[in-house]
Amino acid sequence: MKIYAHRGYSAKYPENTLAAFQAAADLPIDGVEFDVHLTKDGQVVVIHDESINRTSNGVGYVKDMTLPELREFDYGSWFDEEFAGAEIPTLAEALEVFRATNLRVNIELKSDIFAYPGLEELVIQEVEALEMTDQVVISSFDHEAVARIARLAPNVENAALFVNTVLDVASYQEKIPAKALHVFLPSAVRQPVREAIEKGSIVRVWTVNEEEHAALLIGTGVEALFTDEPEKMLAFIKHT
Ligand code: G3P
Ligand code: CA
Repeated sequence: MKIYAHRGYSAKYPENTLAAFQAAADLPIDGVEFDVHLTKDGQVVVIHDESINRTSNGVGYVKDMTLPELREFDYGSWFDEEFAGAEIPTLAEALEVFRATNLRVNIELKSDIFAYPGLEELVIQEVEALEMTDQVVISSFDHEAVARIARLAPNVENAALFVNTVLDVASYQEKIPAKALHVFLPSAVRQPVREAIEKGSIVRVWTVNEEEHAALLIGTGVEALFTDEPEKMLAFIKHT
């Protein structure tokens, strides 16, 4: 089973920062996952929430601020003073960390309450400009966005995210169409996902931080897990 660092090495570094990405890139793991939003001035930036309130010393929505405005805030000290001064990364900066590595890069397109028209096109453009189309997986909980990725860039791997799965998920996947399913752990151990794996679906599971949980996935055909604790999961998988 492969290991993807979730939001970078987010157990030990502030999530979705270059420090968390570099720490992930330095490990013998298989991939990394991070989240993107769109700024007021049309820049794709890496952050989990649609507001900067939780993971910076600022307040406000990403969509209401330009990149220079977002750069006025500190995205590290909320986690630990050691990381004070960490900037919000752009998508291009995050991709650059992994460009010369063998890690797969899972870009999650966020669409919470506010929609980001044109986000899919911008992400594809940046991935193509860096010649990383074979290295990325683009996922979203918004399955219309997943379908748009399939239309815009059929050669890029796209993935549909699920909290709860649906019955006959393999047929649903085909309808989108999505090349992979990214599934919340409780759904990953249920029958519909098991059936999808039997039918050939690529399934990756989030977020797996405990050995007992990872153990449930061994032998199920799950391709990869996303974890905040990549070193812990590496040690666990090595001993199984
Ligand atoms: O992409 C898998 C996982 O990251 C989805 O949930 O909330 O951590 O972005 P969340
Ligand atoms: Ca995510």
